[in-house]
Amino acid sequence: MKELILKRCNKCGALIKVLNDCNSHGCGIICCDDSMELLKPNTSDAAAEKHVPVVEKVNDIINVTINHVMDEDHYIEWIAYISDNREEFVYLKAGDNAKTEFKYEGKAKVYAYCNKHDLWVTDID
Ligand SMILES: [Fe+2]
Repeated sequence: MKELILKRCNKCGALIKVLNDCNSHGCGIICCDDSMELLKPNTSDAAAEKHVPVVEKVNDIINVTINHVMDEDHYIEWIAYISDNREEFVYLKAGDNAKTEFKYEGKAKVYAYCNKHDLWVTDID
């Protein structure tokens, strides 16, 4: 199943979505004269229950909720639905509800990105 590939520069904070990564030389992508870090979901030491997207399938809709604060300095920046043939991002801001819905189209991954605790994912069957 398709996965979201995000890389971050740990010097300047740049965050990029990679469509096709470099596989030929293992050199990755360089920013600020250094290799960008591949973000691995669900690896932050923050509380998983406050970050992993909770999904509920109702007919052909996937309701997504993240039980996370949405404060000015700490919030979920976006929620993404990634399947083999579709990608959809919903961008949020402080004060919003950390929830959205996507059309169900079979197996997929739902990601959430916290501005302090990085990337989180849950699978949809
Ligand atoms: Fe967080």
